[in-house]
Amino acid sequence: MENILLLLKEEAIKELEKASNLEKIQELEVLYFGRKGKLTILLKSLKDLPPEEKPKFGKLSNEIKNEIFNAFSNKKIAFENEKLKKELETEFFDTTIPGPSSKFGHIHPLYQVQKEVEDIFSNMGFSIMDGPELESEYYNFIALNIPNDHPARDMHDTFFVKRKKQEKHGGFVMRTHTSPTQIRTMEKYGAPLRVIVPGRTFRYESLDATHEATFDQIEGLIIDKDISLAHLKGIMAEMLSKIFNKEVTVRLRPGYFPFVEPGLELDFSCLLCDGKGCKTCKNTGWIEFMGCGMVHKNVLAYGGIDSNEYQGWAFGFGLTRLVMMRYKIPDIRLLSSGDIRLTQQF
Ligand code: FA5
Repeated sequence: MENILLLLKEEAIKELEKASNLEKIQELEVLYFGRKGKLTILLKSLKDLPPEEKPKFGKLSNEIKNEIFNAFSNKKIAFENEKLKKELETEFFDTTIPGPSSKFGHIHPLYQVQKEVEDIFSNMGFSIMDGPELESEYYNFIALNIPNDHPARDMHDTFFVKRKKQEKHGGFVMRTHTSPTQIRTMEKYGAPLRVIVPGRTFRYESLDATHEATFDQIEGLIIDKDISLAHLKGIMAEMLSKIFNKEVTVRLRPGYFPFVEPGLELDFSCLLCDGKGCKTCKNTGWIEFMGCGMVHKNVLAYGGIDSNEYQGWAFGFGLTRLVMMRYKIPDIRLLSSGDIRLTQQF
């Protein structure tokens, strides 16, 4: 066996020395290393050797295989270098020409705006929080003052998730809003608090130009002594003016959400008609923007905060809708369509 291996190596090296171009080397590679190549067949036959001989010949055959393989590689490199040298001698090659530019991806418009909102709020002393998308019924509803039989549950078309119920926290849902993080934040950090919580939310919706089943919201929560809705108005007017790069006026009107009292809706002045009335604002001069209000004392209690000492407000707006307004995107579904003709524009 040893002799056969050494003879094969000698033969392969001799043939390789005779090879005068790359094509010939490739032919020889097939002859020795191909599926039915001489070396391949020989290596396969090792399995028929008596067990006591296998380790010795296995090692030797591997060494020989590597030697032949290296000789082939070296000769190929030598030929390729020679070819390149000749090309460089005969053709002018300007090494200063820049190579083809690569295409870079970029951040989705939704998250570009999210980052801007985060920066605006960070500069006003807010922290950025995160919460789970798979949420318990306790945090999504109960601790937000929406008990099991509360009709407000119908306002949220909920995706219920089949998972073992937890003793304290009930079943699981895909969170229908970012508000559950209000409770999580209060539990974790206590008062005073100043946070925003951007995040993905889910609702079993019939889809249209303004409704998606998966969309992003940004929650805001402030808890302190002497906090009033005037702070909310001021902060939102500042945030919207920065996002739209234009002075924006806001107004509050009554709205209902079980976790705030009083509950409010915040509108901002229509940017297209400057509040005069147009098709976009349905001739009202105002764009409906978000739900908000003073945090309900039951919610403070669920979060472990003493409502005799502290109060605060919360808000929740649709980031996806804000992005649509900012970039005048007519259909919400375009943003998650994966169509780069849309996203490349930003
Ligand atoms: C809420 O989700 C409340 N949690 C907001 C809140 C927080 C109120 C704190 C009070 C205090 P609402 O269901 O209105 O409220 O949703 C908030 C925003 O999410 C809406 O104004 C809208 O911009 C956006 N939104 C709601 N449903 C969809 C949807 N299907 N597709 C896209 N955006 C949606």
